[in-house]
Amino acid sequence: MNIFHVLFKSSIGKKVIMALTGIILFGFVIGHLTGNLQIFSHPDKINAYAHFLESLGPALWAIRLFLLAVVVLHIWFAAQLTLENRRARPVGYDKQITLRATLGSRYMRYSGVVVLAFIVYHILHFTVRMTHGPEAYPMTILADGAAVRDVHSMMVLGFQNPLLSVFYLISVGLLSWHLNHGLVSMFQSLGLRTRVWTGALEKVVAAICILYFLGNAAIVVGVMSGQVRIQNPQVAGYACRTNCEICGARTAEAITESAETSEDNQS
Ligand code: HEM
Repeated sequence: MNIFHVLFKSSIGKKVIMALTGIILFGFVIGHLTGNLQIFSHPDKINAYAHFLESLGPALWAIRLFLLAVVVLHIWFAAQLTLENRRARPVGYDKQITLRATLGSRYMRYSGVVVLAFIVYHILHFTVRMTHGPEAYPMTILADGAAVRDVHSMMVLGFQNPLLSVFYLISVGLLSWHLNHGLVSMFQSLGLRTRVWTGALEKVVAAICILYFLGNAAIVVGVMSGQVRIQNPQVAGYACRTNCEICGARTAEAITESAETSEDNQS
C-alpha cells in the first residue's frame, strides 16, 4: 500500500489531512487577528499593512490560492469522514446516549457550514468590496504621501452597523467553538493526545480559543462602543477629537494648520 493510498483512502489518513489542513487554517486565523488588532493603533499602521499585502501582487495570489486549496481539502475530507461514519451505521441507534462526545463535536458540521457562509460574505464585504456602496471603501494618504485604501475606516464603517456586528460576533463565536473541538481532535489524529496530558491539553486549547474570540470581539465592540472611530477627515462620520492620542496630527485643525504653513512657506 503506497503513502498516497494510506493518506487519501484510509480513515486515519483522512483524519491526518484534516489535522494538517486545520493547523494551517488555524495559523491563518491567528495571523489575521494579529494584523487586524492593529486597528487599535494609529490608522496608518493597519493601512500600511494592508497596502504591503496588496503590493505582494502575484505572491499574494499564490497564498490566496494555497489557502483556498487547503479550505477545499479540509471540507472535502470532513464530508468524506461524515459519509463513512453514516455508512458504517446506516440504521441509527434506537436511543442515542452521548457519553464522551461534546456539544462541539456533534455540531462541528453545523458550525463549519455557518463559518463557511461567513467567510464567503466576509470576502465579498472586505476583499471584493461589493456588499456596500463606494462610500464604505474610502482612500487615505499615508505619512509618506502614498495614496492607499483606508482599511481602518472601512472596518469602522462596517462595524457601525449593529446587525453586521452581531453577525460577525456570532460567526467568530462559532469559529472559536469549532476551533476548540478541531484542535483537540487534531492532537488525537496525530497521536499526540495521551492520557497523561489530555486534561491540560483541553484547558490550554479552550484558553486559546476564548482569547481568540475575545480578540476578534474587541475589534467589533471597540467600534460599536466608539473607542475606535473614523480618523480620516474625508470620511463621513469623522469623529476624532482634537489632540486625540491616536491621530493627533490628523485632526481637522492640524490639517488646516499644516496647509496654511505650507502656503506661508511658498509665498
Ligand atoms: C472581527 C473579525 C474580523 C475582522 C475585523 C476582519 C477583517 C478583515 C479585513 C479588513 C480584510 C480585508 C483586508 C484588506 O482589504 O487588505 C479581511 C480579509 C479576509 N478575512 Fe477577515 N476579519 C475578521 C475575521 C475573519 C475570520 C474569522 C476569517 C476566517 C475564518 C477571516 C478570513 C478572511 C479572509 C480569507 C480574507 C481575505 C484575505 C485576502 O484578501 O486574500 N476573517 N478580513
